[in-house]
Amino acid sequence: MFELMKLPYAQDALEPAISKETISYHYGKHHQGYVDNLNKLIKDTAYEDMELKEIVREASAQTPRNDKTNSLFNNAAQVYNHNLYWNSLKPDEPVGIGMSKAAEAYISEYWGSVDRLKETITNVSTKLFGSGWVWICKHEDDSPFVRATHDAGTPLDDPLVTPLLVIDVWEHAYYLQYKNDRSAYIDAIWPVINWDNLA
Ligand code: FE2
Repeated sequence: MFELMKLPYAQDALEPAISKETISYHYGKHHQGYVDNLNKLIKDTAYEDMELKEIVREASAQTPRNDKTNSLFNNAAQVYNHNLYWNSLKPDEPVGIGMSKAAEAYISEYWGSVDRLKETITNVSTKLFGSGWVWICKHEDDSPFVRATHDAGTPLDDPLVTPLLVIDVWEHAYYLQYKNDRSAYIDAIWPVINWDNLA
């Protein structure tokens, strides 16, 4: 059985970018709900003893997916995606500290500049129709890239790709503060991104 991961910071630690109220609902209701659903779906099945990534991959590989494997994939993937999301964020302490030199050097090497990467993430986020996720992943040769997935989609389908960082762009991630303005949420989130996931 799975448990909701422990949040690596207090629920008000990402303010003002992400409010305590947003995290309270997002982590305490949405993420918890995916964990609870997943546990119900795997109970007394062969999935019960599998690791989370394995369940995501197994459920994703079922073709055609029926309602049960669809639910299993959606809930397992949403647990995995949210786990990485919370670990892709960190408090901006001390305020304005910015990213580490190592992360900045890594980003500059592959994207030319931090602004260029932010622009790419903003474009991919705002062009994604409906709910989804924006990822920074790396290929087998360690070169990183930005991509989006729809709904509960994850890059785990491709064994040659490693997800490093993810931003949740479902409306439940920002609606309480930013209403329907996804780009305002993305603009506000930079100081609390855990860029050390990259370097
Ligand atoms: Fe979410």
